Amino acid sequence: MLPNAKEVLNNNNMTLPIIIEPMTENDLNEVNAIEVASFDPPWPLQSFKTDLKQNRLAYYMVARHEGKLVGYVGAWIVLDEVHITTLAVDKDYRCQGIASSLIQNLLDEACRRGANSMSLEVRPSNKAARSFYKKLGFSVCGRRKRYYSDEDALIMTRSNLPNDENNPAPKKDMGDY
Ligand SMILES: CC(C)(COP(=O)(O)OP(=O)(O)OC[C@H]1O[C@@H](n2cnc3c(N)ncnc32)[C@H](O)[C@@H]1OP(=O)(O)O)[C@@H](O)C(=O)NCCC(=O)NCCS
Repeated sequence: MLPNAKEVLNNNNMTLPIIIEPMTENDLNEVNAIEVASFDPPWPLQSFKTDLKQNRLAYYMVARHEGKLVGYVGAWIVLDEVHITTLAVDKDYRCQGIASSLIQNLLDEACRRGANSMSLEVRPSNKAARSFYKKLGFSVCGRRKRYYSDEDALIMTRSNLPNDENNPAPKKDMGDY
């Protein structure tokens, strides 16, 4: 297995080997295909390009299974705060631990750089993502009015990253805040 390869156990306890590596411009067609299938509206390809080429605070990683790009995460690591800009997994590969591995990779990097909190915006209607982040120790801490054209956004955060790395203790979730 390559040095950066990471094995993920899926729900059937079968092993789904994935490799997590930095996103490059060569990945953007595959990233865009997952983005378009996952978000309405999708993030423009140009936003990924700008972050990859010009934003030194940007941290973008992809997960590959047998060479196929199956998921990705993007974030801005600004001093002690991490803001997750995007996270998506190919529909055919969901619920097999890929997003969890991508977030773990981001957490490792964030802790290495001394960050202590992580946040993101999520649609209240996106039950899968809310459940996913809650399972990873994130909790709802606020709401951004009309963040999306058709919906508010919930702000979810996870704090004290270096301290709770091995034993996450989520704050009380504000539910339908
Ligand atoms: C949210 C998303 C990234 C999760 O990716 P994934 O690789 O399937 O997630 P993992 O397998 O690592 O984690 C699975 C956990 O996520 C949650 N989850 C995932 N899909 C779910 C669903 N359809 N319903 C409820 N919970 C779900 C559960 O907590 C699950 O844990 P469990 O298997 O013990 O129940 C994926 O569904 C996706 O790409 N969605 C579209 C894009 C998106 O919404 N991105 C987040 C924007 S904020």
